[in-house]
Amino acid sequence: MPATTLGAVAGIPTDPDRDCPLCPRLVDYRHAVRARDPQGWNSPVPSFGRSDAALLIVGLAPGVNGANRTGRPFTGDYAGELLYATLIEFGFATGQFLARPDDSLTLQDCRITNAVRCVPPQNKPLPVEITTCRPFLIATMETMPRLRAIVLLGRVAHDTMLKTLGIRAVLAPFAHGAVHDAGRFKLYDSYHCSRYNTNTRVLTPEMFHSVFARVKADLAEV
Ligand code: URA
Repeated sequence: MPATTLGAVAGIPTDPDRDCPLCPRLVDYRHAVRARDPQGWNSPVPSFGRSDAALLIVGLAPGVNGANRTGRPFTGDYAGELLYATLIEFGFATGQFLARPDDSLTLQDCRITNAVRCVPPQNKPLPVEITTCRPFLIATMETMPRLRAIVLLGRVAHDTMLKTLGIRAVLAPFAHGAVHDAGRFKLYDSYHCSRYNTNTRVLTPEMFHSVFARVKADLAEV
């Protein structure tokens, strides 16, 4: 799989402005949610974790009652419960996860971002919104000199990463537990840790753990 060059995004910051105007539908939705909950974050959610991390986890988009409310990825809704418990178990996070951004949770050699930084209606970003937000993902990766492992939570994260890296979809089909070599990166596919996937046992904690066990083992290799 030869292509791993990131697209040029000169001048694009790693995180959108708090009032990012780029996706009109998401701006309208943000304003509607803000009117209902003026105390919430209600803005694009920045990545969480240090830029010198070796592991990047890419989610879908902020949940309306989670990251969009608290301002930290996967914080405050169901999806974060399994994710952060797993990261603590595998040493990618320390401290206590209390589902609020002022808990003591600290990521270790790990950063978390989303394919789309603004909360979308029904958790479903449009293809054009995923494309519009991709430069922020690229800029985020470009600021991570030690990046080696990328966990992709769900198909949207997988697809946007293939486009980011210029990899043809037929060469790297999405499957839970699949690992794709992408030059200096390894891509690890996982079903998204959403409430729906975990309640229906599409994704069990054991299945999720096995992805991070593999990442941990691969990162331990020199
Ligand atoms: N919260 C996030 O930040 N991202 C997701 O993909 C789901 C919930």
